Amino acid sequence: KSTSLIDKFGRKVSYVRMSITDRCDFRCVYCMDEEMTFMPREQLLTLEEIVFLLRAFCELGVEKIRITGGEPLVRRNVNWLFEQLGELKQNTTLKELNLTTNGSQLPKYAKQMFDAGVDRINISLDSLQADRFHELTRTGELQSVLDGIEAAKAAGFKRIKLNAVIMKGRNDDEIIDLAEFAIANGLDISYIEEMPLGHVAHARSESFCSSDEVLQVLKTRFDLQSSIANTGGPSRYFQVAGTERRIGFISPHSHNFCDSCNRVRVTTEGRLLLCLGQEHSMDLRHIIRAHPGDIERLKQAIIASMDIKPKGHDFDIKAQPVIFRHMSVTGG
Ligand code: GTP
Ligand code: 5AD
Ligand code: SF4
Repeated sequence: KSTSLIDKFGRKVSYVRMSITDRCDFRCVYCMDEEMTFMPREQLLTLEEIVFLLRAFCELGVEKIRITGGEPLVRRNVNWLFEQLGELKQNTTLKELNLTTNGSQLPKYAKQMFDAGVDRINISLDSLQADRFHELTRTGELQSVLDGIEAAKAAGFKRIKLNAVIMKGRNDDEIIDLAEFAIANGLDISYIEEMPLGHVAHARSESFCSSDEVLQVLKTRFDLQSSIANTGGPSRYFQVAGTERRIGFISPHSHNFCDSCNRVRVTTEGRLLLCLGQEHSMDLRHIIRAHPGDIERLKQAIIASMDIKPKGHDFDIKAQPVIFRHMSVTGG
């Protein structure tokens, strides 16, 4: 059965990104302010509510779920959540259960994630220099992430992708090093243009580095072949000649990909966000709490939400912040 979620521009929604916590053990400079006020816990969906909600999506034909945050692995009992979600692959249309993480907790959780049925892991890594890594994440230790990557490989994960947000004057001299690290370790890597979500300490427009600039740098070292079919997401992928490895670019500013958007997001507090860069949303938490257990009602609401999915974002890196919510609430 294919998806019954089709918006008014004819786009099929088959992918849900769910943020399960806005908290994180890191404070990456492009993601958070130094001082953050996190959501009071009673506002968060409970783990049971998250499972219920994602089940409704999977009964509507959703094939792919990605759990994000904040840092998903700092949420208590996260293992239970993944076990429940893993089971959705047995009795719904769900085909892929993925995780986006900063990697620091993977030494503890990688094996449990693999056993629960997580298919793919994306790990953020913006620098390979310990002191700089600490500067960019404010509280993170590079070694914990390197250990996390090893733990994910050891646990059996085959398709691991690194994410690097490139900023001028901060880590743009590591573009090639990061790709070489990825290739040497059998990982794919995506380079991400910084997006104006939430207030941060630096002027985003000054550090902005476009994917095309990153691509030009990479081309001085690698033979990149652009023959790879688009996976339906925002990434444009290139194959590194002579290897199995792929290098991707997420370029919301320079290559708008909204026409082929296949996804929606659910925020930590259960708000269905129809676009990362717009405020169009539906309060699913209200529906769940007003009508506990009524999955049909929830499904009808989700179907109805398709009518308010906007045509696309209009990010402007110079007018910041355009969107006041941080990426961590939104689920990247
Ligand atoms: P897939 O699930 O394989 O598509 O992986 P992904 O690379 O999209 O997911 P990941 O969680 O690793 O996110 C990497 C970056 O892509 C983050 O900065 C996300 O915010 C960004 N991203 C993902 N989807 C969208 C989108 O629809 N619009 C925009 N503007 N950015 C997105
Ligand atoms: N712009 C671009 N990417 C961001 N991420 C977090 N905040 C931003 C932002 N403002 C990235 C992280 C992580 C992914 C989920 O989102 O680096 O890899
Ligand atoms: Fe945490 Fe990820 Fe945000 Fe960094 S980008 S502060 S690791 S949620």
